[in-house]
Amino acid sequence: MPTPKILVMSGSIRIGSYNSKLAALAAKELALLDVGVTRISLQDYPLPIYDSDLDARSGPPANAFKLKQMMQAHHGVFIASPEYNASITPLLKNAIDWISQVRERTDTNAVYKGRVFAISTASSGSEGGLRSAMALRQILELGCGALVIPEQVSIPLADEAFDERDSLSDLATANLLRRQLMRLVDISRLMM
Ligand SMILES: Cc1cc2nc3c(=O)[nH]c(=O)nc-3n(C[C@H](O)[C@H](O)[C@H](O)COP(=O)(O)O)c2cc1C
Repeated sequence: MPTPKILVMSGSIRIGSYNSKLAALAAKELALLDVGVTRISLQDYPLPIYDSDLDARSGPPANAFKLKQMMQAHHGVFIASPEYNASITPLLKNAIDWISQVRERTDTNAVYKGRVFAISTASSGSEGGLRSAMALRQILELGCGALVIPEQVSIPLADEAFDERDSLSDLATANLLRRQLMRLVDISRLMM
């Protein structure tokens, strides 16, 4: 069976980020599913705030090209997204916006249209960042034309959700994440 490649990232670069913990756990679980896994940190791709004038003057920065190429090299993408004021972080939105403006011969959003996305969230709040997931789904599906699988996981009270091995303490949530990742892999295989 062909081996899909999955890219994993977090919308936070905060030290001790729950979403980075969730991304690391997803990468670990994906590795057990016998797929190629790459986990990146947006810290390694610093970008200025998107500005059309800057884009018109000098084009997207090298890191926008690098991020787009990184996405292109994978069939599926898992994003762990924090919730900031009922939406996604400016860090994540900025990266998505810059990638969408890297103009090549293909449709600018071909990189989004050609792969499948899975969204999960973690928050110290009681709703687990659910509104961030909804906002990210809207951005990726309606804004970028991406396919986002319906399965999603939101982890409330994230400061208590991970055990000493950085696994999820709640079995039902851990199983939900596994089912989401299996579906991501299945659909990624179809995108190859
Ligand atoms: C500017 C800002 C806005 C926030 N708004 C929300 C919110 O609307 N809902 C929520 O559950 N948590 C909110 N939080 C809390 C974050 O979700 C929480 O700090 C979370 O741990 C951030 O993700 P991280 O641990 O991956 O960095 C907010 C935090 C900041 C800094």
